[in-house]
Amino acid sequence: MINKIKALLQEVENMKAANAEELEALRIKYLSKKGEISALMNDFRNVAADQKREVGQFLNQLKETTQNKINELKESFDNVQTGNDDIDLTRTAYPVELGTRHPLSLVKKEICDIFGRLGFSIAEGPEIEDDWHVFSSLNFAEDHPARDMQDTFFIQHNPDVLLRTHTSSVQTRVMETQQPPIRIICPGRVYRNEAISYRAHCFFHQVEALYVDKNVSFADLKQALLFFAKEMFGPETKIRLRPSYFPFTEPSAEMDISCNLCGGKGCAFCKHTGWVEILGCGMVDPNVLESCGIDSKVYTGYALGMGIERITNLKYQVKDLRMFSENDVRFLKQFESAN
Ligand code: DAH
Repeated sequence: MINKIKALLQEVENMKAANAEELEALRIKYLSKKGEISALMNDFRNVAADQKREVGQFLNQLKETTQNKINELKESFDNVQTGNDDIDLTRTAYPVELGTRHPLSLVKKEICDIFGRLGFSIAEGPEIEDDWHVFSSLNFAEDHPARDMQDTFFIQHNPDVLLRTHTSSVQTRVMETQQPPIRIICPGRVYRNEAISYRAHCFFHQVEALYVDKNVSFADLKQALLFFAKEMFGPETKIRLRPSYFPFTEPSAEMDISCNLCGGKGCAFCKHTGWVEILGCGMVDPNVLESCGIDSKVYTGYALGMGIERITNLKYQVKDLRMFSENDVRFLKQFESAN
């Protein structure tokens, strides 16, 4: 029996197939249930006990070699087919379609560049935050109604783990690790539990600016705001400040710019007032400085925050906020030339 196995081994090692059909015939001849190797396996029962070990080893070797050889031949057919027939290496390459920058990214970059020219550097913080950084450190008292101003998404019913509702949290992150002078601009995504419509979304983007040093005054804030408005919306742009309330600034204000569509004459966009609101701002409340370990008797600061979607709407008149997150290329393509 050993001789027969050795002869078959020899045969298998030299076996050749010209095509897939021939290969299948070989597989049937050797490896199928009625094939040569199965027959040997059946005969194995009759081998004398003292020879079983040696014969068994030869038999296994034969089976393995046959299987390997058949796989090898099969692979060589597969390669030949795809390698030669399917790929035409002389064909012209497909044109690579270039993407465009998202309008929100364009505007974010422009805002950061403008503040960059005033010496602000970029700072970022996490989107998943805790109560301290989003509310408590920013002078929102535990039961203060201002907390309801921003409908918060909490994570896993834990009141201390939440999605940040504004980028003001980055102010705290920087102030608790750095002493003044601090001059930062913080762009990022924020989340609020709002019903999605053409004018509200459950996530949007903000840019926050913070300047803390000795002798920073409201006049410095006003100057920075005017510079920003003229750079962003053109040199004719006017600004006005209205008193407002934010827990983290005192005094606080909201800034309007002269409507950039009608130049201040009054149109449907500005509801015929000639003005449109674009941001909130104020002098950093001393409580906020103190809660971050900054001496409020030595330092003062101003802060401001604005929505990137709002600024983008003013620049490009996008009427439906949802367009920003739908990824419709027909919409996105329109900003190609702005890149
Ligand atoms: N955090 C405010 C909001 O989300 C925006 C804001 C207002 C930021 C006044 C400021 C500020 O830094 O001084 O509505």
